[in-house]
Amino acid sequence: MRGTMKCVVKTKPGPNNLELCERPIPQPGPGEVLIKVQLAAICGTDVHIKDWDPFAAARINPPVIIGHEFCGEIVEIGIGVDSTRIGKLVSAESHVVCGHCAMCKAGLANVCLNTTCIGLHFDGAFAEYVVIPDENAIVCDPNLPEEVNAILEPLGVAVHAASKCELAGKTVAVVGCGPIGLMAVAVARKMGAGKIIAVETNEYRLDTAIKMGATVTVNPLKEDTIKSVRNATDGLGPEVILEFSGSKHAIIDETKYIRKGGSIVVAGLPSGEIGLNFEDIFYNGVNMYGISGRELYRTWNIMQGLLDAGLDVKECISDVLPLEDFEKGFELIKSGKALKVLFRP
Ligand SMILES: NC(=O)c1ccc[n+]([C@@H]2O[C@H](COP(=O)([O-])OP(=O)(O)OC[C@H]3O[C@@H](n4cnc5c(N)ncnc54)[C@H](O)[C@@H]3O)[C@@H](O)[C@H]2O)c1
Ligand SMILES: [Zn+2]
Ligand SMILES: [Zn+2]
Repeated sequence: MRGTMKCVVKTKPGPNNLELCERPIPQPGPGEVLIKVQLAAICGTDVHIKDWDPFAAARINPPVIIGHEFCGEIVEIGIGVDSTRIGKLVSAESHVVCGHCAMCKAGLANVCLNTTCIGLHFDGAFAEYVVIPDENAIVCDPNLPEEVNAILEPLGVAVHAASKCELAGKTVAVVGCGPIGLMAVAVARKMGAGKIIAVETNEYRLDTAIKMGATVTVNPLKEDTIKSVRNATDGLGPEVILEFSGSKHAIIDETKYIRKGGSIVVAGLPSGEIGLNFEDIFYNGVNMYGISGRELYRTWNIMQGLLDAGLDVKECISDVLPLEDFEKGFELIKSGKALKVLFRP
């Protein structure tokens, strides 16, 4: 396809430096597809890139078009791609893996040694068009709302975390109810969790957690978290904690109120080392699991099954803006008054 497109580019290193630009429409190479983007969502990672924190500075080499959570239609294919792929509505697995390192060969491609990411290492989806490897374009259900198809990638993080241990009939705490934690509440509900305790400092997000299936809310800014979570669990603590806050204090608390023999699934990313007391882990027989991205492609299959069974995560989408208003989108996220914010190019 010829012509130019509008897109949001991180133009140079340093805070901000995001600009709406006009760029040539990219051409799909061998094994790649060109996607016309319908909707794209802001991820916490995009905020890191905008702010240029150490995470972003270590990974990004501007100029690069950002954005990796999206859905759209395959409109052109590169050499070697099946022609029936044209016209398919797809969402994207953002992690591009090598397929030949020791981890990929062991079936652990989500921790591939050579992972690159759409919208970080190469041009992404805050644009009218994006090129990605064909194998990263996952066909989605056209009957689902397009807003939901645009956020399957972060939903996959929630599904990966919630699939790490059995939740049916269990008492589950979801700590940090940003968009991913909120989706994890809905997933845990769909997976048959019993009591779901939402732990979050933002009242608007706690209210949304109730709408998405939480049964109890705890606000660490207003109460003693350890006491409140224990009170809600007959003094025993939750059997499973799904950690999405990335807060040092929240994670240390989790190791204090987890039930003996319980499991903590860590998906939230603290900004540095946090100093855990390992006595809390081994004396109490606690299991801890770190999860990164989505299992390729097991998590996508589980997610599809849950969506087929009626999993509904629309409630965690707060705003849909034209791409030209990208700055407003980032401001909404900073204000704490938004959940998932989407752009329509
Ligand atoms: N493991 C992965 O592969 C992966 C992928 C994407 C994102 N993440 C991480 O998952 C986390 C959630 O992502 P998100 O997009 O929903 O981010 P987010 O920043 O919107 O959500 C974090 C939430 O935690 C809340 N919070 C902060 N301190 C708290 C405390 N002490 N107790 C309870 N809640 C607290 C915040 O108010 C916020 O609502 C982030 O840490 C992100 O870096 C991990
Ligand atoms: Zn993301
Ligand atoms: Zn690999």
